[in-house]
Amino acid sequence: MRSVGYSFNAAIADIVDNSIAADATRIDISADAVDGEWVCIYDDGTGMRPPQARNALKLAGTRNVERGARDLGRFGLGLKTASLSQGRRLTVITKRDGVTTGLQWDLDFVLETGSWAIRVLDAEDIAVLPRSELIEGGEHGTLVIWESLDYLLAGAHDKSSWMSNRLSELRDHLGLVFQRFLEGRGALRLSVNGILVAPIDPFLEGNPRTQVAPIEKVSIDGHAVAVEAFTLPHSSYLNAKERKREDLGTRMREHQGFYVYRNRRLISAGGWFGLSKQDELSKQTRVRVEIPPELDHHWQLDIKKSRVEPPQAFRSRLRQIIDQVKAKSTRIHSFRGRQTTTSDFAFLWTLVEDRHGFRYQVNTDHPSVQAIRDSLPADQVSSLESLLADLAGGIPATDIYARMAENQQRVVPPLGDDQIRLRLRALRDNGAATTDGDTMSAALVKIEPFNAVPNLRDLVDEVWKESDDAQP
Ligand SMILES: Nc1ncnc2c1ncn2[C@@H]1O[C@H](COP(=O)(O)OP(=O)(O)OP(=O)(O)O)[C@@H](O)[C@H]1O
Ligand SMILES: [Mg+2]
Repeated sequence: MRSVGYSFNAAIADIVDNSIAADATRIDISADAVDGEWVCIYDDGTGMRPPQARNALKLAGTRNVERGARDLGRFGLGLKTASLSQGRRLTVITKRDGVTTGLQWDLDFVLETGSWAIRVLDAEDIAVLPRSELIEGGEHGTLVIWESLDYLLAGAHDKSSWMSNRLSELRDHLGLVFQRFLEGRGALRLSVNGILVAPIDPFLEGNPRTQVAPIEKVSIDGHAVAVEAFTLPHSSYLNAKERKREDLGTRMREHQGFYVYRNRRLISAGGWFGLSKQDELSKQTRVRVEIPPELDHHWQLDIKKSRVEPPQAFRSRLRQIIDQVKAKSTRIHSFRGRQTTTSDFAFLWTLVEDRHGFRYQVNTDHPSVQAIRDSLPADQVSSLESLLADLAGGIPATDIYARMAENQQRVVPPLGDDQIRLRLRALRDNGAATTDGDTMSAALVKIEPFNAVPNLRDLVDEVWKESDDAQP
């Protein structure tokens, strides 16, 4: 049972589920960040009466209970499995109607006595436990304490830095999983060692550049599953805070995919259920799926509540949805060059696709290229063409791909006015001088790189006036 495979984050989230189901408004997680001796989860929820507390410590004690709409539980296992996956001792102190109950599962006690028995704690036992003052001070609530943290600390050399890493990862995890409980009016107040957990929105709904597709309702067994696709903004449109997030930076690619929610609680984040690949081009795509708890069994929700599998009947519909949203995400990145043949825009590069694959060529019809070619003696034109072909053939595509995949920023210094003037003079001196400034400016806005120059009109006037001055 201890080896179900809970991560520390998933184990804590399972305990938090119970607190939310008990109508907690405040949940404080604290841990011994020096020696890693204990971890506590306190909530100000309803608490339990003694018989209910006993039942709570039984395996599958609540397997068949009626569950309210807010209940995030299902198996009647979480409290025990999640806790004992991290340590050898689980203590629950709970208070309701003025009565405090303390119960403890201690695996070493079970081993010593050879009996599956829990310890019942008295007031003195409780008083020496970490954070027990929280229960003492409140009207009602529950404190879950983990000790003898053998699994949590397995592999830790320096316990204090180990714990501080675990706790900071935990804040991110809880911010994402319980985002929708942490937002808005009457939001849950959740803290980890005194630091409030901030909600983390995987879909960046607050960013105006995020694109949202309308919600689709897919019906399974008469229950609606809501599906909503988001295309996240390109990294250049992220704000400073968003840019710090790993899931939007170097790790963006592995965070694409489905985000499955059950009762507003995130179960699984990212991945396409094997229905599609986590491509570089679709890394902006995230799809929110809301499953009603009635469909748990169809989705093979696991005990840790960190994994689901879509039902077979739903897979083909999901695949269609993936294709649609991926096509959209891909467009954010695609090279505009593929339009050269159909539009009157002059790109510097052309994309050539044939049955062998694709390649890029310098657009030799581009006015700047033509201007130079026209100015060269005939015997040098073929040298120019060879050079351009070699440059295009030698594009370090693999290196570019690798850097883009790591979300490295591509910086192209903007052209200064002097550099634009140089280019304009070349055009002017190679046949364009007779065209007037108005016509020239109108033509240049459809030509790279002039299309991106804000003061183009002024520069054209200036350069064309130079030629008037030179030839009065
Ligand atoms: N913090 C808490 N406050 C009040 N009651 C609690 C709390 N934690 C657990 N309980 C009670 O103990 C029961 C058992 O909890 P446990 O997490 O083991 O199972 P569950 O939540 O019913 O199902 P699951 O295995 O899916 O988590 C709960 O159903 C609830 O009645
Ligand atoms: Mg539970």
